[in-house]
Amino acid sequence: MQQDRLWNEWHPVCKAEELLEDPKQVFVLGERVVIFRNEKGVHAFKDLCIHRGAALSLGKVKNGNLVCAYHAWEYDCTGACEKIPALPSGRAIPSKARATVYHCEEYLGLIWVNLGEDPAPLVSFPEYSMEGYRTAICGPYEVKANAPRIIENFLDVSHLMFVHEGLLGDEDHAEVVDYKVEFVDNRLITSKIPVYQPNPDGRSKGGYADYVYEILNPTTARFTKTTEGSDDELTILLAVNQEDHEQAKAFMLLTRNYDLDMPDEPFIEFQDTIFYQDLDIVQSQKPELLPLDLQAELHLKSDALTIAYRKWLNELGVENGTNPIQDEARKKVLVQ
Ligand code: FES
Ligand code: CO
Repeated sequence: MQQDRLWNEWHPVCKAEELLEDPKQVFVLGERVVIFRNEKGVHAFKDLCIHRGAALSLGKVKNGNLVCAYHAWEYDCTGACEKIPALPSGRAIPSKARATVYHCEEYLGLIWVNLGEDPAPLVSFPEYSMEGYRTAICGPYEVKANAPRIIENFLDVSHLMFVHEGLLGDEDHAEVVDYKVEFVDNRLITSKIPVYQPNPDGRSKGGYADYVYEILNPTTARFTKTTEGSDDELTILLAVNQEDHEQAKAFMLLTRNYDLDMPDEPFIEFQDTIFYQDLDIVQSQKPELLPLDLQAELHLKSDALTIAYRKWLNELGVENGTNPIQDEARKKVLVQ
């Protein structure tokens, strides 16, 4: 069961607004997946027609069914083939004429896919629907790296003063105070970590901000940033989809309870700047797979959160951030 951890997790594949009347091809853990929308909601199949292996994503949605572009077999949203035009009338549709169906949900303004038979719960992000909060969706950011490296970078406090100098940190305030990491309600959570911010979120209000980080599952993490003496609260949820062994896509949800009348664009642009400052670093990291052997890299106390993350991945059986190896197709995914 633990070995199936990533396979049973939810992976964000696109913004909900991008999935309109046409089906769309996406990749999850090396699987080619087609997602489509009909009046019943959103659906995901393996992107493969059982007849002659064409990608179903080349087809179209007609009367709620996904129709293959090649010979127009029609699949309903349960994956059953309802119509085969070449079949003489009166002849039964073979029962094996089915698409492989995956779990698919529209949630938090994104489309999420789960390949597993025993899906984990969707991540909880209450701020998204809380009154007085507003969410902007950033990304998707294309990253040539593995999801755990991307998550770790997001959780890394001591780079803020260097990679994001002048925006999220100040070289002269580089020390990181000791903080606690606890496992509560199925997630890792830190105590408040103060970080001096010369220009937090592009708002030019220098001072200390407190970060509380949470790791919700192997590929989803968040932090909430607050400032003493202010009610302003910014939460960022990072959800990463490992598309295949070398490519990932990251989405960020920025939820704020201030400047609600302001458009989202400046916040998104600021986040884009921050993300692209990190990109070269993350793509340069070797080994590509996060070393879960704690002897493999050198750790400081300030790395307590990323150490806890590595230990957790290890316990979950997400070996080296890899996917469970159950068949040849999966073996190609995320394996050195
Ligand atoms: Fe899809 Fe023939 S390959 S209908
Ligand atoms: Co960064």
